[in-house]
Amino acid sequence: MFNGVFNGKSVWLSGHTGFKGAWLAEWLLCLGARVQGFALPPATQPSLFQQLGLASRLHHEVGDIRDPAAVKKSILAAQPDFVFHLAAQPLVRLSYEQPVETYSTNVMGTINVLQALREFEKPCPAVMVTTDKCYENREWVHGYREEDSLGGHDPYSSSKAAAELAISAWRRSFFQDHPVKIASARAGNVIGGGDWAPDRIVPDCIRSLQAGQPIGVRNPKATRPWQHVLEPLSGYLWLAALLYDQRSEPRYQKSELGNQRSEVRNQKSELSNQEPVSSSVHRLLSSDLRPLTSDLRPQPSGLDSAFNFGPSHESNRTVAELVVEVLKHWPGSWEDTSSPNAAHEAGLLQLSTEKAHARLRWLPVWSFSQAVEHTVTWYRTTAERPDPGAARELTSAHIDRYTAEACQAGLPWATAGALHPAGVTLPPMNDRRSPPSSKLVPVVQVPPPVGDV
Ligand SMILES: NC(=O)c1ccc[n+]([C@@H]2O[C@H](COP(=O)([O-])OP(=O)(O)OC[C@H]3O[C@@H](n4cnc5c(N)ncnc54)[C@H](O)[C@@H]3O)[C@@H](O)[C@H]2O)c1
Repeated sequence: MFNGVFNGKSVWLSGHTGFKGAWLAEWLLCLGARVQGFALPPATQPSLFQQLGLASRLHHEVGDIRDPAAVKKSILAAQPDFVFHLAAQPLVRLSYEQPVETYSTNVMGTINVLQALREFEKPCPAVMVTTDKCYENREWVHGYREEDSLGGHDPYSSSKAAAELAISAWRRSFFQDHPVKIASARAGNVIGGGDWAPDRIVPDCIRSLQAGQPIGVRNPKATRPWQHVLEPLSGYLWLAALLYDQRSEPRYQKSELGNQRSEVRNQKSELSNQEPVSSSVHRLLSSDLRPLTSDLRPQPSGLDSAFNFGPSHESNRTVAELVVEVLKHWPGSWEDTSSPNAAHEAGLLQLSTEKAHARLRWLPVWSFSQAVEHTVTWYRTTAERPDPGAARELTSAHIDRYTAEACQAGLPWATAGALHPAGVTLPPMNDRRSPPSSKLVPVVQVPPPVGDV
């Protein structure tokens, strides 16, 4: 998996006490990495960080990303082989209450990481995590591409757009002939076990269901690209692994795209012969391949650029549809609590992942219903089993199962194949090789949802 590049490597990870950061820390530990986390203490009780017992399993450093000296000292001391920057104030509604703090954390925090990396002298891919909300939202029915205009109505979204602008400017100004390679990653709304943030729909659902109360839904008609947290994380890890593999390669050549373009055009017919592939993945492949041929224009930049990691089209659902799906696995009820005076939130938001597919051969693995089922299973099982090992066991089982299904589908990050530098023809998606280790097969059984409550 990921060609084994993380095994024994040092990884600097900001935001490891948060939802996505804790999942990423757990996955990196499974991959054999030594993880140095840099973040504020967990903001919620419970927190996934505490449920996974991460404080004793990685180098846990409490620090403020807004403090340039602390960030620099931490990164230089860690001498990382990889950097993942996730620390942020990520809540839209809180950003209306704390716009200045949101900007200083999300923009200056990112710049502090970039500035520290300028002084770094060894090869090191750095994946800077922003969001799908960094695009100027025009309520388009199609997905935003990496070249689309950045913007953002609210302080959170626009702070992430500003972070993207800073990343792009620093990359062009300071990291062209530099051993550190900077990429940014824009993901959709992630769901998964262990998110306890306020004002997020899945944690809101779980809190209401645990209390036996109807779920209050304040924006039922808003459409979002829902995806399981493991989907973008596989993209971040694979992007970093490919950048690592390119560390001594010359920069990407436009002319090399010819092979890649025709090879991707052929994929749809190759895929139709592909059996057996997990039905959900096959469906995702079929639907996601359709627009590829129109977007294979040469990319001016290499892998050190921006990438979207979103779900398939069928996962673009309204908040109400998400809640109804949650209720299939944990029965209860919901009510519309929308108010005409509520703060603005985007109505329609979708991401195009054509670039991630064309350049990385990355695709989502789990369908919308699978993502919701695994998410609710996580919460219900850990609610039934509050012993310290339950969350860790379940989280590892989800990572194993996700990886096994990606492997079965032939996704390059999950198979044992060689890495694929940009511009070199990638193997077709039906070129399925043996999984890298027996650990991946058979598919790990995630416990089924516990009985109705
Ligand atoms: N959750 C989503 O749906 C989603 C979607 C797209 C992008 N993202 C992005 O993914 C990243 C992680 O999001 P999350 O959902 O895990 O958020 P989270 O709130 O669960 O975690 C945020 C992390 O950032 C850290 N942090 C916040 N302020 C800090 C500061 N001043 N100094 C140091 N650390 C600080 C927190 O301690 C925590 O570890 C963020 O960059 C977010 O914008 C999240």
